[in-house]
Amino acid sequence: MQDEIEKGRKFLKAVDYEELEKKFGDLKTDQQSGVAPPPLQKPYPENAVLIDLVEPDNFTCGTVPLAQAIGSRKSHRNFTDTALSLEEISFLLWATQGVREVDAKKVWTKRIVPSGGARQPFETYLIVNRVEGLEPGVYRYLAIEHKLLHVSDSGDDQVERIAEACHGQGFCGKSAVVFVWATIPYRTEWRYSVMSHKDIAIEAGHVCQNLYLACEGIRSGTCGIAAYDQKLIDALIGVDGKDEFTVYLSPVGKVA
Ligand SMILES: Cc1cc2nc3c(=O)[nH]c(=O)nc-3n(C[C@H](O)[C@H](O)[C@H](O)COP(=O)(O)O)c2cc1C
Repeated sequence: MQDEIEKGRKFLKAVDYEELEKKFGDLKTDQQSGVAPPPLQKPYPENAVLIDLVEPDNFTCGTVPLAQAIGSRKSHRNFTDTALSLEEISFLLWATQGVREVDAKKVWTKRIVPSGGARQPFETYLIVNRVEGLEPGVYRYLAIEHKLLHVSDSGDDQVERIAEACHGQGFCGKSAVVFVWATIPYRTEWRYSVMSHKDIAIEAGHVCQNLYLACEGIRSGTCGIAAYDQKLIDALIGVDGKDEFTVYLSPVGKVA
């Protein structure tokens, strides 16, 4: 067990280049070797019907003063039955992963949240229970288009499956919508190789903190969840668990 603890502590430390060079010799990354960059976003079928979201220029919500949002942020685990509006969900998606600039050569995107080397290694999945205008089910945020892609319909047991995937934390299933962040680690590994993984973990925190603050701006609440079952949640959102897998999730709902 102590070995595992030491491994975990090492993961939190800065990369020891000297040690890596001794072990592997050449530390050239795929980028340095001239390998083409991976897609900026997970591809989707050309003929997919995309769902329009409210554009950031048209947001009427989220006008709460910043100091108030920061000062009142806390984790919420009791949600009302009220649905979120499509504008509110558009605002939360933009606040967590919105794209400000796409590189002309399609190597990087600049987004609302910071990311080492602007690699932005996340895909955002929504497990929708109650959002006006959306049938319950799983959706993926296409951050570049600022649109939603329908991934799968919900079964009758969606609420229970969410709770089970969160190790029995029932409030997760009772939320209006669950934000699930899956990483495609190669997006960062292409540039940073073995140095990527601490960065990816740090960046998930940036994303979820923005969700907390944005929720304060729409009288909603959220609670970051790291206690989840990897296989169950990956199966729920439909990712392979190898080249793309969940790293963090956060249920959102209206609070009394
Ligand atoms: C990385 C991380 C993982 C967390 N995982 C869970 C979780 O699985 N279940 C839960 O109820 N709360 C979880 N929380 C929320 C914490 O319990 C909460 O932040 C803490 O109790 C402090 O409360 P506050 O957020 O209201 O200040 C998590 C928070 C973070 C940052």
